Formats: sequence, C-alpha cells, structure tokens
Amino acid sequence: MAFLDYHKSLERNATLLLGGSLFVVLIGGIVEIAPLFYLENTIEKVEGVRPYSPLELEGREIYLREGCYVCHSQMIRPMRDEVERYGHYSLAAESMYDHPFQWGSKRTGPDLARVGGRYSDAWHVQHLSDPQSVVPESIMPPYAFLKDNLLDGEQIADLMETNRIVGVPYTDDQIAQARADFNVQADPNGDYDALLERYPGAHVANSDGLPGVSEMDALVAYLQVLGTMVDFSTFTPDASR
Ligand code: HEC
Repeated sequence: MAFLDYHKSLERNATLLLGGSLFVVLIGGIVEIAPLFYLENTIEKVEGVRPYSPLELEGREIYLREGCYVCHSQMIRPMRDEVERYGHYSLAAESMYDHPFQWGSKRTGPDLARVGGRYSDAWHVQHLSDPQSVVPESIMPPYAFLKDNLLDGEQIADLMETNRIVGVPYTDDQIAQARADFNVQADPNGDYDALLERYPGAHVANSDGLPGVSEMDALVAYLQVLGTMVDFSTFTPDASR
C-alpha cells in the first residue's frame, strides 16, 4: 500500500523520523499547555480557604526560617493509608495562599497538613520546647528559645503587602489593621471580634502563657490553623472541572 511505503521511508530515515516525532510531540504539548494561558485560575475555589491572619503569617515565616519543612511535609496524598492516618487528602486550594508552598519532599516526622486542632496549645508549647518530654523516642530538635524571642509586629504589614504582590488578596483594611490583629490574636483578654470577622476561625490564644507576643505564640497560631479552613463535612469536589 502506498501509505505504508511512505511510512517505511520515514522509519528508515533517522532525521526524518526524529523531525516527525518532534512535530507530533509538539502538537500534544500545545494542546495540553496552551489552554492554561487562557484560564484565569487552575485552582478550584473552595469555601473557607482564606489568607493567613497576621500572626499565622508570622508563624509561617518562623516555620520557614527554622526549616521545619526539612522533616515535615504538608500534603496528604489521596491514598488510603494517608487518608486514614492524616485525614482528608489535601486540596490545591488549601495551599493557594502559601508563597512558597510547603508540600515538602521528606517525612522524617509526620505530615502536618491537618495538625491544626489535633493537640492543645499547651501540648505544642511543651513539644516544641522539649519534644522528648512528650514523645520519648522523638528525634525532633528542641525550639524552646522561641518563647524568649518577642515580636513587635512592626514589619507584619509590609509582609502582607509583599504577599499581596504575589497574589494573596489582602484588603487595604486588613493591611491597615495588621498590627492590631497581630497583637490581639495572642491576647485572649483583648477585643478580638474584628479579627475573627476578618479571619474567620482564627485561633486566639497566648499559647506560651508569657506576656507579649513571642515567636512561640506565632508558630503555634500557624500550626493550629493548618488544615482547619475547609469544612470537610460539607465539602463536595466540583465535578465540572
Ligand atoms: C530533624 C527532623 C525534624 C525537624 C527539623 C522538625 N521536626 Fe517536628 N517532628 C519530627 C519527628 C520525628 C516527629 C515525630 C515525633 C514527635 O512527635 O516528636 C515530629 C513531630 C512534630 C509534630 C507533631 C505531629 C503529630 O501529628 O503528632 C509537630 C506539630 C511538629 N513536629 C512540628 C515541628 C515544627 C513546627 C518544626 C520546626 C520548628 C519541626 N517540627 C521541626 C522531626 C522533626
């Protein structure tokens, strides 16, 4: 057949075959990649996901600075053993305000994507100060010094502005109130209604029980919000995507 003869000459000429293969792969690539440039967002919007409160955002910075991601991932994969151990698999939307994301690639310790609300603040403070005092076989290093490092929140508004540049939708109001919100989240006796309106579900607590806002307070506020923004009793994946 003429068509097969034509194909034979293609197969016998290495350069022609290479060129032809590249052409075919190119079509596949364009079909897959080009639509992404026309989508406004590739992440399904999920109710409940909000930008981090100022104190949580600061806690995240400490998480990055201390390299917690070297031992901890924040991504529950959709496999049965993971879901049974850690809870609902992670959604893309849950890390949409993370710059950079903290999915991680190493699990020396457990995944932390849903650690929020699993332990009390007191447990976290004790565990971070001296991990072996609560988990004797732990190889996690101690971070007791975080209690001594006090924060004044002076740069928190700038940090939120920077996050806004990369796409986190902080409002002008949230940035104007950044420092007040920062302080009140670590003060259970403060007037934190406005904070909760701006950041629903924010966990208000002076975790370490010491005066002032410490790095420990910030880190615990961050840990306690992880994985708690989406209500999985009502969540249904959007099948139209
Ligand atoms: C050298 C590796 C290592 C580093 C670095 C490390 N961890 Fe851990 N982490 C572990 C291990 C191992 C465990 C499990 C034993 C335990 O609970 O202490 C753990 C447990 C935890 C838990 C309890 C999780 C659960 O579901 O029981 C939290 C929370 C935690 N780490 C937070 C942190 C934070 C925050 C940092 C950074 C300040 C950090 N870890 C740094 C190894 C590490």
